[in-house]
Amino acid sequence: MSEAGKMWGGRFAGELDPFFAKFQKSLPIDRVLVFADLETNRAWASALGRASVLQPHDVTKVHAAIDDLATHVRAHGVPDDDDAEDVHSYVERELGKRCGDLAKRIHTGRSRNDQVATDLRIHLRDVGSELLAATVAVLANLVHQADQHAAAPMPGYTHMQRAQPITIGHWALAHVEALARDHARIKDALARMDVCPLGSGALAGTPLAVDREQLATALGFRSASQNSLDATAARDHACELLFAATMAMTNLSRMCEDLVFFASTEARFGRFGDRVSTGSSLMPQKRNPDAAELVRGNCGLVLGGLVALLTTMKGLPLAYNRDLQEDKSALLPALQRTIDCLRVAALAVDDFAFDTDRCAKEADRGFQNATDLADLLVSHGVAFRDAHELVGKAVDRAQVLGCELQDLPAAEQRRLLPQLHLDLSQALAANVILARRDVLGGTAPRRVREQVARWQQLVLAANRPATETHRR
Ligand code: ARG
Repeated sequence: MSEAGKMWGGRFAGELDPFFAKFQKSLPIDRVLVFADLETNRAWASALGRASVLQPHDVTKVHAAIDDLATHVRAHGVPDDDDAEDVHSYVERELGKRCGDLAKRIHTGRSRNDQVATDLRIHLRDVGSELLAATVAVLANLVHQADQHAAAPMPGYTHMQRAQPITIGHWALAHVEALARDHARIKDALARMDVCPLGSGALAGTPLAVDREQLATALGFRSASQNSLDATAARDHACELLFAATMAMTNLSRMCEDLVFFASTEARFGRFGDRVSTGSSLMPQKRNPDAAELVRGNCGLVLGGLVALLTTMKGLPLAYNRDLQEDKSALLPALQRTIDCLRVAALAVDDFAFDTDRCAKEADRGFQNATDLADLLVSHGVAFRDAHELVGKAVDRAQVLGCELQDLPAAEQRRLLPQLHLDLSQALAANVILARRDVLGGTAPRRVREQVARWQQLVLAANRPATETHRR
């Protein structure tokens, strides 16, 4: 390597333009791959030993240098203003200080193209595990809320208009369903990513006698890639993981929007605690739901990363092109932001205290029992269309009188709903209405409790470390 840390100086007499030299560096963003790059170097040095390119004692020396550099980086990190062009040049130079020319020899039969493709997959595997764990934390806290409030009534909405009562637990488990699909999507993406490109060379495969399956196993991958052009050029695994993250952010933003509304002065269904709320610098009365708003607001940045990455990929010819260096600046901050947002969302869910008295009271207001009144008429022989009409008129009248359907004066009830000779305040109470939705997936407390139990098992299982792991 030249003094300036270049890996490719041979045919170049002049220096890079200083502005371009800085512009084309990726170290500030790819230095997070340093531990993955050290692992790749370790496995490749072993493979070179087995292919008789390096002597066994040389392999030992390289491994010792890698250990030493790993210790150094753990203590001091990789400076983002280092001269090296990228993390691979940094590692080669630093290994050179520790094992001399051997650092140059380990680049035999290898390219930064298969190296960066391998490093990125190794790194994303770790990021993916963090994403999964952070998702499970939100799930666990939602399931806990559902457990606490499995039978507690609250208003349910469509079009932001009061529609029918639901239980708070049913609301919480709705977001559990969505986030659990995100969890499954992340797992799927990680499974497809579990393929090792090392040994693909720059594009055509390495000429050395390396056992690529053995390399894959040594690096903790399920298998080795089957086509060197694809292995060095593909980034759809990165797009897929980022899509899964974007979808999770989109789902989180909807959950957060619900919570912001619940905490609003208009709804007052609950409030965020001090751990996730902030005040106003001007208005002393404010308790703002900033945690939920920030998660909702970060969705755009993550989606932006996905669009940037897909756009970079579009139309790229095979195989490696330098455009691919930009994959990491779109991908890595977006994934980190998703992890951070999941952590904040877990806190926000945990710190939200429902006002169950108010929720229950409001579940009885706003004619949310109108559908059930129509159902009652149907059970007394009225056709549903006619029942719909009768109840519509009753709602109109109740609105004029300033009361709810269940509070219509007896004379009004006789006039408007002559078919019904029963106490509406009992027949239309929220708990009665809830109990009627006793169908798979319905909001009846009995069903919600069943679902809580199912999710408690699933969250427990997701928290258990996998037993048949092929990881180191
Ligand atoms: N830093 C580059 C990247 O992240 C890897 C270097 C490959 N460079 C090259 N000219 N082939 O994609």
